[in-house]
Amino acid sequence: MPRTVALTGATGFIGTVLRERLVRTGARVRALSRQHQPPIDGVEWVVGTLEDRGALAALVAGADSVIHCAGAVRGRRKEDFLRTNVEGSLRMIEAARRGGQCERFLLISSLAARHPQLSWYALSKYEAEAQVRQAAGDIAVTIFRPTAVYGPGDRDVRPLLEWLMRGWLFALGRSSARLSFLHVDDLADAAVCWLEAAPAPPATYELDDCHPGGYNWSAIAAIAARVRNGPVRCVAVPIGLLKTIAHINMSLARIGRYSPMLTLSKVGELAHPDWSCDSRPAREALGWHPQTTLNKALEERLF
Ligand SMILES: NC(=O)c1ccc[n+]([C@@H]2O[C@H](COP(=O)([O-])OP(=O)(O)OC[C@H]3O[C@@H](n4cnc5c(N)ncnc54)[C@H](OP(=O)(O)O)[C@@H]3O)[C@@H](O)[C@H]2O)c1
Repeated sequence: MPRTVALTGATGFIGTVLRERLVRTGARVRALSRQHQPPIDGVEWVVGTLEDRGALAALVAGADSVIHCAGAVRGRRKEDFLRTNVEGSLRMIEAARRGGQCERFLLISSLAARHPQLSWYALSKYEAEAQVRQAAGDIAVTIFRPTAVYGPGDRDVRPLLEWLMRGWLFALGRSSARLSFLHVDDLADAAVCWLEAAPAPPATYELDDCHPGGYNWSAIAAIAARVRNGPVRCVAVPIGLLKTIAHINMSLARIGRYSPMLTLSKVGELAHPDWSCDSRPAREALGWHPQTTLNKALEERLF
């Protein structure tokens, strides 16, 4: 019998790809949206927010699986992240428990949760994980901690990759930093593997493209130079300069009342020396095999 999956964040960058992939696997998809959506691929839309318990109850009714992907990735204040990522995730798992039919719950967290002290975002993802685990009852909770995700529709990593292919690498933060990446299609594959596997004990998995030890800036420049068959110039953007840009950005965001990506809090993440991760446990437990390395993504313009 096809699975019924309740999906949040289905209108965002990652959630859109997840939604399309779930439909292709034959799952019945019920998706939360803050706005009315046109009918698409047989998806059953539930209009509402993570603040609306009634909408969350309608979302999970009859669903055997929940994928909670909605989240705040930008914000002007700590509260913006805590309200959506912590309180919203807690409401989601509570709704799944009350609904009584959810067997498994996948929380799309972030590698940032490994270091909650670094930023408001990191703290909110860490707290969300803890609260979801604690409130899960009999529901099998799996937590994905993807590293930086890129692909069509992404607004954050994509500019870096576009400049790379023009021959410029903007090395943000430490010159010695180790980074990792994950293509959005591989993240969607991991979710499908999770859905198709037998329900497992609670687990937390880091996810990247399985490039051993991650990438440093010079490795990224070397890959891009090879792919474009031309030079790549490295422009160092030191932490001090990032902080100045973040100050300006935060002032503009206050005036323009928008949610900025680069804040002083975010600089804490960018200044961290090691964002490499180990996705072997995910591969072994889920039978998942990421297909897209940075090299392949640049060669085939998969972003
Ligand atoms: N992008 C990355 O590199 C990355 C890496 C690791 C983890 N993640 C995690 O992956 C998830 C998705 O990220 P993304 O990059 O796809 O972000 P995104 O494009 O900003 O999408 C966020 C989604 O969450 C929804 N949402 C936000 N607040 C909500 C609320 N209060 N009620 C209901 N829906 C709400 C948004 O709805 P609207 O369309 O109405 O705004 C949108 O569908 C997040 O949990 C993020 O922390 C992302």
